[in-house]
Amino acid sequence: MDNREYSYSQAFKQIAKTANTSLPLKKVLNSIARSTAKALKSSGCTIMLLSPQKEHLDIIAAYGLSDLYLRKGALNAHKSLREVLDGKIVAIFDATQDERVQYPEAADTEKISSVLAAPLLQKGEIVGQVRIYTEEPRCFSQADKDFLATVANIIAIAMEKTELHQVLIAEHEETVTKRRKLADTPQLPSSSLRPSSFGHPSEEEFAKLLDFYRIEWLYEPRSFPLAWHNDKVMEMFTPDFYLPELDLYIELTTLKQSLITEKNRKLRRLRELYPEVNIKLLNKSDYLRLLAKYGYGRLGGTKVEGIDRVLFSHTQIQRRVRALAKRISQDYAERQLVLVGILKGVVCFMSDLMQHITLPLTIDFMAISYYGTDNESAVKITKDLDTSIAGLDVIMVEDIVDTGMTLNYVLNHLASHNPRSLHVCTLLDKRARRLINVPLDYIGFEVPDEFVVGYGLDYHGEYRNLPFIGALTPELIEKEHKK
Ligand code: IMP
Ligand code: MG
Repeated sequence: MDNREYSYSQAFKQIAKTANTSLPLKKVLNSIARSTAKALKSSGCTIMLLSPQKEHLDIIAAYGLSDLYLRKGALNAHKSLREVLDGKIVAIFDATQDERVQYPEAADTEKISSVLAAPLLQKGEIVGQVRIYTEEPRCFSQADKDFLATVANIIAIAMEKTELHQVLIAEHEETVTKRRKLADTPQLPSSSLRPSSFGHPSEEEFAKLLDFYRIEWLYEPRSFPLAWHNDKVMEMFTPDFYLPELDLYIELTTLKQSLITEKNRKLRRLRELYPEVNIKLLNKSDYLRLLAKYGYGRLGGTKVEGIDRVLFSHTQIQRRVRALAKRISQDYAERQLVLVGILKGVVCFMSDLMQHITLPLTIDFMAISYYGTDNESAVKITKDLDTSIAGLDVIMVEDIVDTGMTLNYVLNHLASHNPRSLHVCTLLDKRARRLINVPLDYIGFEVPDEFVVGYGLDYHGEYRNLPFIGALTPELIEKEHKK
């Protein structure tokens, strides 16, 4: 018997034993999730139930995944690895790229590469599934698949045995309804974790500021024990906020010196006991400065008046640009890649994109201007390419495609120079306003029909240096038109 087989037989022993205990089902399933993840040498495991209408999958037990990942929302059963619903075992090699994965970005953040999923069957009907996740990309063997399928069977028996299945479904329905109600209100993902009340008005103000800049936050998500007496916790500290994107805990303070001294003492103790935890004590001027440091806010030195709201934060943009660069790197291996951008809106995007493409490439720029009146306007090239693109593989890089007229004109121009291939990568797609259907091969984000600025995009030359993308206040543009 080889090592793997031995570890599987040990895991089966453990799992079957757990399944046969009289522990509450949830505990049983969490323990099975843990043993399964460990036996498969994977970083995490989830057990999910299908809603009675077979529309949603909800996680009922898990091991090894972050809270944030688990709260990413109910999975749409038809979008997320739907072949499992047909009773198949599904193996995904790269979850950040595979179209069968519903939240590829969440997988990327969680460092999930490969996923293996097996259906849970009861009386021949699919009632859910069990999934395991690995950090390293992995081709799963038949033995891995057989192991997970058998675990799925044991889980199904455990659920049937305890007859708690019905109870869980009822609970599940309730959470799904709750979550759907929350999902219907267009707010940040963190809205589902929004507290009903804050401890202090400054905390609420800080939360609003974070919302404005689309920085994810959790309110008091964790308490740190600081002192014990005979194994009993005598003192705890609960920081006000956790910002997952910055992996940073924040404790806000008022200006009362006595409180600050006490908090400083607790913080020192916390840092001693939990050196891996990143925590900052902030008063109001501190937190404005902190936001400025990350490029946000008035003290950041950039113009934010006139911005209605932030559509994509710096972190969201970076994450998306990296994913696009990864795809391009895969698609253009062994080719002679030239990125062609149109000045000036594309500067930020071009700069970040090319740094993440892991292939040799060259870049070139064109500039255009618009002539004439509203009735009769024309596009004119004011700066053409510096080098020939004949026989090369060209990707036209755009900041935003609106009506599609500019892109259409430029693509025709480029095509006349006989490149070997010509594709389009745009950061933003304002699809609602499209007049000419130009093919877009790589798209960063779809944007609503609003004027957007930042990250290179301007309004009368301003706002280009904002590190995020925001929508302009409609009144600003209306005023302009009344002039
Ligand atoms: P199109 O020819 O209508 O597709 O317009 C594309 C060009 O218009 C882009 O390259 C931008 O320069 C500009 N543009 C369109 N919409 C916006 C916007 O919302 N913000 C900033 N520039 C925009
Ligand atoms: Mg442009």
